[in-house]
Amino acid sequence: MYQVIVGTGDLAYALAHLFHINNTNDSGNFLEVTKPSLQESGKSFHETGVPLSPIDEALEHADIVILAIPAKALKSFVPNYIMALKDKVLIDCTNSSREGEDLESLVTNTNIRWVKAFNDLGAVDILTNKVTTKKRIVTKMCSPSKSAIEVARRLAQESFGIDVKVVPYSRYEDIARNQNSIGQQWAHSAYILIVIFVLTEFYACWRYNVEKGYEWFHLPMQVTNKAICWTAITGFALTQLPGVIARIGNYFRSNLSDLSPTLKWALQLRKELGILSLWFLGLHILMSMILFNPAYYGKFFIDPTANTSKMNVIGETSFLFATVGSMFYFILGLASLPSVSSNMTNQQWQLIYGPLAWAALAFGTSHVIIMGFKGWDDHLQDEWPGGMPPITLTSVLIPMLVLFLKVIEIGLFLTSSLCRRSIPKSDDDMQYIRTVIQAGSLHVGGNDSGNDSDGTHSSGKSKSTCSTVSVKMLGNFECEIVEDQV
Ligand code: HEM
Repeated sequence: MYQVIVGTGDLAYALAHLFHINNTNDSGNFLEVTKPSLQESGKSFHETGVPLSPIDEALEHADIVILAIPAKALKSFVPNYIMALKDKVLIDCTNSSREGEDLESLVTNTNIRWVKAFNDLGAVDILTNKVTTKKRIVTKMCSPSKSAIEVARRLAQESFGIDVKVVPYSRYEDIARNQNSIGQQWAHSAYILIVIFVLTEFYACWRYNVEKGYEWFHLPMQVTNKAICWTAITGFALTQLPGVIARIGNYFRSNLSDLSPTLKWALQLRKELGILSLWFLGLHILMSMILFNPAYYGKFFIDPTANTSKMNVIGETSFLFATVGSMFYFILGLASLPSVSSNMTNQQWQLIYGPLAWAALAFGTSHVIIMGFKGWDDHLQDEWPGGMPPITLTSVLIPMLVLFLKVIEIGLFLTSSLCRRSIPKSDDDMQYIRTVIQAGSLHVGGNDSGNDSDGTHSSGKSKSTCSTVSVKMLGNFECEIVEDQV
């Protein structure tokens, strides 16, 4: 088969490079590169060994045409060469941010077969791909034509060494402008944190610069640091809020489709919100370390007037929680990297995004409470500048609410576990259970190796319809009747 890449930009170069290092003679594939103004013939495109050809000649014998030209150039290229393109498979690699500036819009109502592909690949990423690289590149392909996808997929796998994920045509809009979007989750998470930062910066500035009379030149670091760490801890708390609400809701809901759209939206933001909050935490740590001395933070030192003073008990304890909590967040951040998360087992995942994430939030909150609780006293409230509560108090309100909800969730879990009746093995009970199982109104789960009392082997994995209770067969005879958690 003959293929031609139209375009001589970065992506064309990158695909030619892949062809150069992956294609074998056995594939029967031949590649050329062309563009409308090109007159040269036979010369190698850069050092890839892929020949350059004049456009008419190249299009004439091509079976597949890879359009690696800018999206706006498609509008003139396709109509100009429509006769030469009509019986080829066209591959659209463009990423336009404008509606209608893609091949789909240009060839609707024609018989031209086309595939959206390679638009999710970065040229630099491809060019650093060596023959020795173990990791394979993956591209998404989408087309209304099954046969066109097959042709494009064969080319990608055999000659470019690219793995293919086929996306149903009904999801075309999701991938069409893949590279021209920041991603909804990133954008929404960024908006949320920017709004929180602006509000907290305003509060910090008003409390410290306006009411407390801090010099304005302390705004950039000392005062802004307060808004930054407030944003970080609020972001972390918000990351964990939707999960805990959903889990509490599970105790009162019959199925997942009852989740409200807002809750579903919030659940989808967790990763991005967490990573951006981690960025704020990193900033807080850096700023705090630069400022860290008794002149700025006297309350953490035994002698606030001495530069050589050691930390007091508040400083030592608060920063123990701060450093351990920060390292927990660091682990959460690392685990979110695709190369790490894809190799994690379910148990590791549950541990890191369960207890570890909650410990991180509890430690961060403790860091703040320990440093600030002295200033929360009722009799000190008259001394709060402008009547505004200290940030150590305001910043932990949301995290404490989220931690409180987690305690409620654990309480619900324990209560529902305690409500499960454990039935000791008794002949009556067993007889009752057998009768109900035979009647088909219970489902049974248990270990495969168990033998029933009558000596018959029980698979233990069978399921029948279930009404209100289910039975777990544990080993030979032990069994437990549990409230059904449908
Ligand atoms: C889990 C990680 C952490 C969280 C969530 C966190 C959050 C906070 C919050 C909300 C405050 C209160 C700000 C105020 O009242 O002014 C604060 C204060 C402070 N944090 Fe952290 N922090 C963390 C880790 C750290 C670490 C590792 C350091 C050390 C480098 C640090 C240094 C400080 C300092 C020096 C203050 C006092 C700031 C001030 O009073 O202006 N924090 N932190």
